[in-house]
Amino acid sequence: MKKLFCIIILAGLFSQNNIFSQNITLNKNNIDEVINAMTLEEKVRMVIGCGMSGPDAKFPGTAGRSYEIPRLGIPSVYFADGPHKLAMSVRREFDSNFYYTTEFPSGSTVAATFNPNAAYEVGKAIGTEVKDYGMDVLLAPGVNLMRNVLCGRNHEYYSEDPLIVGKIAAAYINGVQSQGIGTSIKHFAANNQETNRYSNDPQMDQRTLRELYLKGFEIAIKESSPWTIMTAYNKINGKHTSENIDLTTTILRDEWGYNGLVISDWNAGSDAIASMIAGNDMLQPGQERQYNAIYEAVKNGQLEEKILDRNVKRVLELVVKSNTFNNKSYPNETDLKAHAAISRKVGTEGIVLLTNNGVLPFSEKVNQVALYGSTSYDMVPAGQGFGSLAFGRYTVSLVEGLRNANYEVDKNLIRKYQTHLASEEKRLFPNGRPPFSLAPPPRADEFIPTAEELAEQVKSNDVAIFTIGRASSEPVDRHVREFYLTENELALLKAVSDAYHSAGKKVIIVLNICSPVETASWKSLADAIICAFQPGQEVGHCVTDILIGKVNPSGKLPVTFAINYGDAASDKNFPFDYEFKMPSFFMGSGLSIQGENEEPQEVKPVRNIDYTVYEEGIYVGYRYFDTFNKNVSFPFGHGLSYTTFNYNVINSSVNDDICSVEVTVTNTGNVSGKEVVQVYITAPEGGLKKPSKELKAFGKTRELNPGESETLTLTWKTMDMSSFNDKSSSWELAKGKYLWHIATSAADVKSTVEHKINSSKKIKVNDVMKPAQKIATIR
Ligand code: BGC
Repeated sequence: MKKLFCIIILAGLFSQNNIFSQNITLNKNNIDEVINAMTLEEKVRMVIGCGMSGPDAKFPGTAGRSYEIPRLGIPSVYFADGPHKLAMSVRREFDSNFYYTTEFPSGSTVAATFNPNAAYEVGKAIGTEVKDYGMDVLLAPGVNLMRNVLCGRNHEYYSEDPLIVGKIAAAYINGVQSQGIGTSIKHFAANNQETNRYSNDPQMDQRTLRELYLKGFEIAIKESSPWTIMTAYNKINGKHTSENIDLTTTILRDEWGYNGLVISDWNAGSDAIASMIAGNDMLQPGQERQYNAIYEAVKNGQLEEKILDRNVKRVLELVVKSNTFNNKSYPNETDLKAHAAISRKVGTEGIVLLTNNGVLPFSEKVNQVALYGSTSYDMVPAGQGFGSLAFGRYTVSLVEGLRNANYEVDKNLIRKYQTHLASEEKRLFPNGRPPFSLAPPPRADEFIPTAEELAEQVKSNDVAIFTIGRASSEPVDRHVREFYLTENELALLKAVSDAYHSAGKKVIIVLNICSPVETASWKSLADAIICAFQPGQEVGHCVTDILIGKVNPSGKLPVTFAINYGDAASDKNFPFDYEFKMPSFFMGSGLSIQGENEEPQEVKPVRNIDYTVYEEGIYVGYRYFDTFNKNVSFPFGHGLSYTTFNYNVINSSVNDDICSVEVTVTNTGNVSGKEVVQVYITAPEGGLKKPSKELKAFGKTRELNPGESETLTLTWKTMDMSSFNDKSSSWELAKGKYLWHIATSAADVKSTVEHKINSSKKIKVNDVMKPAQKIATIR
């Protein structure tokens, strides 16, 4: 009897979580058993990160790692930040080596290629770097919609259009994951402002959320299966994204079929238990208070252990896929030369030629170049943030780029700029540059040469180039004054333009910017304008390749350039004039502390800081300008070439659920080049009110020689033309006549075909994520 009793007890112990199952070690088929062998403490540790990687970590300067349990054969999985650079310390303790990584083009430049293959190449190269340095997951790409031109992270993001976002992101993710490295598509969702970023509450109707802010994620997730998804800092309609079961389970998993791991952004949210329940499986970088809360909640029954087990399971499913788990050896160095070539190629392909009166590409007569603007000498390779804190290996200036292409750059001007930049450095940083700063560094003022100096420069140069630069950085939005050129920049532009033009010489403007700036008031002063956004460490080479025609420009604007700030429908509902008072990290407590000895006071939520109302609804970017007939400076999708193209629609059809257009593009000019074809749809009257045009497909030709043609077949699903009806929680496709516009920008339609949809169609989804009160959107 006694013996039987002992057997029963022992069997019981073995069947529960218990330390006797120690012999088990993790493999991809025994995850449930391994979870069963974990103590509660271990399970809670598994859903919490292990802090940021300090100098003594295995990979110093990276974002963190997951918990390890050696007795169960569970190693840490290592996370490193992206998207345009694998972020880690260049130097390591007691190690004489340098661990450099490549600064690839910022997201906006990658998107401006309008070429998913280019995004794939960048993804593959950066994925290779992650693999070569022994890590497992790249925290990228950033795919939030460019709702407003002043968002501090626009450089990381792709576009104001969710189709561009989704297609470029899917390609990037497929590129990274082709290397056996995981991605973390971020920040899910509606992460569109940095001011008060931990607590800001975007408030929008369900249609706006579904059609714009979730759409890019939906496309990318369905077309690339990212290993992980990172929720955002912000709330949506009153709830933190990391704590919202409607977002991270109902929509993401039940509707879209996602079955990977969801992680929080670093220190996001406030309620660890709600995150666990919501299916935000892992909290990063992990805090003791989160550990205690989850542990206690399981103990006192507030959190079911099976929910914790489910989340642990998703973490382990990631672990077993990782290189670290699979003991893959790694060289600890990477092919920086090959990746620099990819960075240069894609960075150049993302450059957009905005205007050109024939000055570009340089004729053979151009040899001696005058470079104006501090940025020509100190270019902006990419945006700043946690994704790019480490020192880049190098940034190619325009001086270097032009010299490498055998152009003479005015030496006297170079000397003047060296002196000017040195004195500006002293003025801006009297105590030296801070060793660590997330805010973009203040920009040097421009100096205006005297009339005699200018006359001398005009005499000795064939052409003038003026680079206008704008940096941006993660936790800080841009102020509206950053949209406009400074008085000082305008004065220099005017002086240079007058002096060169009166001598019959040309002036070219290069925009090396994070996101659109004002161009309408001064664009006629330039003979050509090129928008390079931030094309990576090879920036000077990329710009030169376009100037001299080594590469024919084929980039297109993924975002509209408005005439003024205030023109876009979202402009008033953004903290555009917020004066920086404190880092985002300390904002949004809902409390204000008046004085040292005073009790904190509750403060009223402030519009655009604590909450932001998306009154523009679905009318973001060209969807607004186009529908409401507002003039813009440069439309979405715009970009010139050094050659010309002809478009011939040879076929178009609706078969079952698929729409398709075949367009033959012929290079009718004198030099080879690539062209992008964009298909916009106008829906019939009768259904929901819609933007007058929406992009539904795009494609890019290969490099076509003069006279050569390529036929592109562009397809999309019929239901992609539907709209979301909040009232019925359905995607609704109206019947009637649809116009399909074959275009080279939102404002330049080459030909239109008509197709009839004979019966309307509805797909019902869950009625979730409603705003607390009705949002008065524009109509
Ligand atoms: C950023 C994320 C980043 C994370 C880890 C956060 O502050 O918002 O994009 O991946 O830090 O570095």
